[in-house]
Amino acid sequence: MNFSILKCALFCALLTCLLNANIAFAQTTRHPLTNGWKFYKYAEGERPDSLIYDARPDANGNSDGIAADAKPTEAVKIAAAKGILKYYILPTGNAFVKDESKRTTRPDGNPGNNFPFVQNTFNDAGWQSVTLPHDWAIKGPFYQGPGTIIGGGMGRLPVQGVAWYRRKLDIAAADARKSIFLDFDGTMSYAMVWVNGTLAGGWPYGYNSWRVDITKYVVPGGKNQIAVRIDNPANSSRWYPGAGIYRKVWLTKTSPVHVAQWGTFVKADAVSAKSAKISFSTTISNDSKTDGNYIVKTTIYLTDASGNKTGAAVANIAPASIAVKASSNNSATGNVTIANPKLWQPLPAKIHSKYVAVTTVTNGGKTLDVYETPFGIRDVKFDAKTGLVVNGVKTLIKGVNQHSDLGALGMAFNRRAAERQLEILRDMGCNAIRMSHNPPDPQLLELTDKMGFLVMDEVFDGWERKKTALDFHLIFPEWQEQDLRAMIRRDKNHPSIILWGFGNEVGEQYTDKEGAALATRLINIAKDEDPTRPYTLSMNYAKADMPLPQVVDVIGLNYQGEGIRNAPAYAGLQGITAPPSFPAFHAKFPDKVILSLENAAAVSSRGEYMFPVYDGDSSPIKDGQGGDSKTRQVSAYDLYTVDFGSSADKVFATMAKHPFVAGGFVWSGWDYLGEPTPYSLSRSSYFGIIDLAGFKKDRYYLYQSQWRPELPMAHILPHWNWPNRIGETTPVHVFTSGDEAELFLNGKSLGRKKMAQYEYRIRWNDVKYQPGELKLIAYKNGKKWAEEILKTTGAPQKLSLAADRSTIKADGDDLSFITVRVADADGSTIPSAKNVLNFSIEGPGEIVATDNGDAANMVPFPSHQREAFNGYALVIVRAKAGKTGIIKVKAETDGLAGGVVMVNAK
Ligand code: GAL
Repeated sequence: MNFSILKCALFCALLTCLLNANIAFAQTTRHPLTNGWKFYKYAEGERPDSLIYDARPDANGNSDGIAADAKPTEAVKIAAAKGILKYYILPTGNAFVKDESKRTTRPDGNPGNNFPFVQNTFNDAGWQSVTLPHDWAIKGPFYQGPGTIIGGGMGRLPVQGVAWYRRKLDIAAADARKSIFLDFDGTMSYAMVWVNGTLAGGWPYGYNSWRVDITKYVVPGGKNQIAVRIDNPANSSRWYPGAGIYRKVWLTKTSPVHVAQWGTFVKADAVSAKSAKISFSTTISNDSKTDGNYIVKTTIYLTDASGNKTGAAVANIAPASIAVKASSNNSATGNVTIANPKLWQPLPAKIHSKYVAVTTVTNGGKTLDVYETPFGIRDVKFDAKTGLVVNGVKTLIKGVNQHSDLGALGMAFNRRAAERQLEILRDMGCNAIRMSHNPPDPQLLELTDKMGFLVMDEVFDGWERKKTALDFHLIFPEWQEQDLRAMIRRDKNHPSIILWGFGNEVGEQYTDKEGAALATRLINIAKDEDPTRPYTLSMNYAKADMPLPQVVDVIGLNYQGEGIRNAPAYAGLQGITAPPSFPAFHAKFPDKVILSLENAAAVSSRGEYMFPVYDGDSSPIKDGQGGDSKTRQVSAYDLYTVDFGSSADKVFATMAKHPFVAGGFVWSGWDYLGEPTPYSLSRSSYFGIIDLAGFKKDRYYLYQSQWRPELPMAHILPHWNWPNRIGETTPVHVFTSGDEAELFLNGKSLGRKKMAQYEYRIRWNDVKYQPGELKLIAYKNGKKWAEEILKTTGAPQKLSLAADRSTIKADGDDLSFITVRVADADGSTIPSAKNVLNFSIEGPGEIVATDNGDAANMVPFPSHQREAFNGYALVIVRAKAGKTGIIKVKAETDGLAGGVVMVNAK
């Protein structure tokens, strides 16, 4: 090789190297930190380290009290003690504090640096290995009985205490000129992060996503260690909050000049089928030490259902030149009109189109950042006369409230489990979700976009006044702005979100003008983040003539709309009573849309029927009237409610009488962990239309009959296996999308009846039980519409297994939900079966959890043995990462034929 060739080769190698460096430099990378975590939790009774965020009031004692209908009390003021770390944590939120003079600076010093757990040299080999997301409490065991540190309210699971997570980080030497961040999607709670022994930041609120800049604490090319401390107090929540790093954590690397965290906002105006005007703003962060001028360019593409770009660009926003000073931010804006936009459509539409805006930041031809903003184009109007109008179509909100837990999987977010919750709700005809009462995992909003649900995103369950002793009122004074802005900034580009909630039943409803002033302050902050959507509060107490409702854009009522303790069976109960307040709000605010943000609070246990049956349409629950405090079960005739609630029937009737109400959200869609009203010794709620395991309670069909009137259906209750009730009065109720029905018992007509106005079920109250066959023929407008048969089953014979999906991804994350039924020879479910079932698994999968939907059941979720509850049990199977093949799940029980199901891990 001659010298010049060598020179050329060297030059070329150098050039490639530089180009690669430039490309590596240009790309923002985001890697989930899923594996490699070590976990340690102080044992109960063990005194944890003293690296506390802030001093806390003394609030020992049990948390059995169920605060749902309680009046929130004043905030507790605590004098911050010496040695607290919050002054090191507050600067993490600076990007969400608008007034620069109110931002805080990290004090000097390095608290905790002497503590072994934060040090690189600490040997954590003996700690538990965990993968994220992780909820340390979900495996239990459940605390049982009265007076436990965690009572029914918080789900009787060991959420309380301090724990540490440690992980090594590889940061390449080539990353030396990059900005490096840890992005936490959610940490429960009071998270604080040390990097190589230095306290880098944290975020106390457990439901928001947050970022900590670790650039100056990492050693590129060296060994890096992160340590995260989590501190989750007892008495800090009205429901099960989960515990730990329960959502994803990302390692994000950017060029020092990059699009800021959640730094883009797409607004669509003048939307029609013909065109849409898109305004786009981008905030650029310059983390470098030099001022600079940058070109920001954005190109828009249509995406397919998986979010991938399709076809050529549909629009380009003219490049903008923008000056960004060192260590600061600046924003660029631009507009473009898209012709014939594919509109995002809510359910029941089947296609929910989305776009992606690809923003490129360059300097002198060099690409510094490429940032993608998925968004949707739709026109949403809240009109006091029509209600909600989406893309020109009046859209009744048929919504449910959903908590964040995923039943037996706890709070550790799993995309498939969340998708299954939405699928079952969608089949019911539900088109809207209220994220009660906190920002969800960001993936859930990807799902609501993709599946066409309308969403109310909500940030707080309380402000300054507390609902439980140690809830987030403790941090509200110092974090209200950061938490409010963080939710909106993260979520505002989702087309599914139509409404923001900034407080649920807050105690400030009771403080007249003061409460309204605080609400005004919050709404002004919120509108600075997103002026395009309306803001609402959930008001269960505030009346039309009080100052609070004046402040909000949309009137949001909890329970009072349909009246509180306002039906014959509720007379004489303690507590607030109120007639339906819809008319008063409508009269006072003729220009505001009214929504029922929480209604029903009806309770039931799937498959439990109690006699006698209440003959009106709504009754409070008590022993002998729909309830049994010994077995902790509630009758599934679905007429019973908590004291302040109303049955589904009563809610539908009230809505029908007040057609100006734009719809509402049922409390609740699914059962959830904690808040087991009325039986605090239980573990999970009774409110769900769907039980904790995902099995449908009877009222699922009541909602379906009203929300999918075009679907021919009829549902009969109770079951028809009553060997001890022969000859006894056993009322038969029917939900149908028809308007008339005839019931036959063993071939003999029990009469053809019409659904009366403002009634939502047809009843045959005097049926004398005889085993055999109930047959129902439903009619609509005089024509046969649907048929349903319910039979007394034969003796239990076998176990029958069915998987919701028989092929799953072998990625260590995807799940198959397997329904196990105790069945007779014909395959009909034995409706009262409580057999103890044993589960086993072969092949490349594992049983993550089992459940049966029984709120009173205290068997820990990981157990491979579980009783059927009224014929059903659930097994949740996860495929092992990278291992394909057939997973075989078996169920066995004494005296019956076992059952098997195969799931293919691909
Ligand atoms: C409401 C509250 C909900 C839930 C519900 C049922 O008052 O907003 O979070 O507690 O009652 O108890």
